[in-house]
Amino acid sequence: MSDTLTIALSKGRILKETLPLLEKANIIPAEDIFQSRKLIFDTNHDNIKLVILRATDVPTYVEHGVADFGVAGKDVLMEASISNVYELLDLEISKCKLMTAGVKGDALPERRLKVASKFVKTAKNYFAEQGIQADVIKLYGAMELAPIMGLADLIVDIVDTGNTLKANGLEARELIADISTRLIVNKAAYKTKYGQIQPIMEMLQTAINQNTLDA
Ligand code: ATP
Ligand code: PRP
Repeated sequence: MSDTLTIALSKGRILKETLPLLEKANIIPAEDIFQSRKLIFDTNHDNIKLVILRATDVPTYVEHGVADFGVAGKDVLMEASISNVYELLDLEISKCKLMTAGVKGDALPERRLKVASKFVKTAKNYFAEQGIQADVIKLYGAMELAPIMGLADLIVDIVDTGNTLKANGLEARELIADISTRLIVNKAAYKTKYGQIQPIMEMLQTAINQNTLDA
């Protein structure tokens, strides 16, 4: 059994907040990730490697056990089909909300709703739980355009400051979930590598607490 621990990180917005947190937990990449085209990085620990992935691929790598840990947004985890992972820690970074939104002031139509989102599974589950009949249309970005162009009555999307909604004449309606970034672990790795995993969890928890104090 390999004694290397591989942590899969989500690139983009989450990575910018994850690296300072890892640094506080004394896990430091051997080179500047943002200045490199590499996807796999050594760290100051011989047994810890970092891989940089598209956020939606992080749960897949951890599900299959090729990465032991993963760092991904709760929105991505809710949408992923994963059964082989535990959610270990709330890293309390990249906080935002998953919400429904529609054109400001518009009432919903009487017919079956049309909803556009990149979070298709989450949107379907949400409307089903509400007992509302809805067809969900998959989009890959710029969700805010869909109600304006008449593609959908509502969108399900991330809201942070609300500026994007406002700039496009939309308003937030219902909260689906509070989102933050989570640390996940492969279930088998959690058992077989517990001795290595436990100190990392402790260091990360200390770093999270320190972030909270600094905020
Ligand atoms: P991809 O390029 O893979 O499609 P993306 O462009 O959606 O991903 P980012 O915007 O870099 O990726 O980060 C997405 C993650 O960051 C989300 O999964 C969510 O958890 C968090 N996030 C997204 N938007 C915001 C926001 N406005 N404020 C805070 N956190 C956000
Ligand atoms: C996210 C999200 C919203 C926006 C919300 O987009 O999809 O469009 O942030 O943030 P706000 O409430 O602060 O305006 P992002 O900037 O990640 O761009 P994307 O379309 O590439 O996902």
